[in-house]
Amino acid sequence: MRETHIIETKDLAKYFTASTNLIDFFPRAFRKRAAIKAVDGVSIQVEKGEIFGLLGPNGAGKTTLIKMLCTLIVPTKGEAYINGYEIVKSGEMVRKSIGLVTGEERSFYWRLSGKENLKFFGALYNIKLKDNK
Ligand SMILES: Nc1ncnc2c1ncn2[C@@H]1O[C@H](COP(=O)(O)OP(=O)(O)OP(=O)(O)O)[C@@H](O)[C@H]1O
Ligand SMILES: [Mg+2]
Repeated sequence: MRETHIIETKDLAKYFTASTNLIDFFPRAFRKRAAIKAVDGVSIQVEKGEIFGLLGPNGAGKTTLIKMLCTLIVPTKGEAYINGYEIVKSGEMVRKSIGLVTGEERSFYWRLSGKENLKFFGALYNIKLKDNK
C-alpha cells in the first residue's frame, strides 16, 4: 500500500478491440484487428483534498479512465493506485474506499428521500445505522 496521493496513475492505458460485423468478419478474419486506444499513457497525481477536473472532447477517454480507477474494467497496461491501493491487485480495497456518482445516469433513487438514499447505499457498504444517523 502506498499513501502519497489519493489518486496516482502511471502510463495507464486501455485499448479496446474494434468490433466487426458478420459481413466483414470473414475477409478480415486473418487481419490483425485495429485497437481503439481509448486511454493511452495517462499519468496523473491527485492530492488529498484537491478538486481535480478531467476535461476532454467526446471520446477522449474520460469515462474509460474513471471505469479503470473504479475497478469496473481492467487496464491494458500501466499502473494506478487509489488511496494507496493498486487497482488490479487490491480491487476490493479500492472499492471499499471510494464512492462514485455519475452525472449522466441516475445514481440515486428518486422516490426515496435523501436520508433514505444514504441509508440504502450505506447498507450496501455495511455502514451500521448508528454510524449513519
Ligand atoms: N467497450 C468499448 N468497446 C470499444 N470501444 C470503446 C468502449 N468504450 C469506449 N470505447 C471507445 O473508447 C474511446 C473513449 O471513450 P470514452 O467513453 O471513454 O470517452 P469520453 O471521454 O467519456 O467521451 P464522452 O465525453 O462522450 O463521454 C471512444 O473512441 C469510444 O468509442
Ligand atoms: Mg464519458
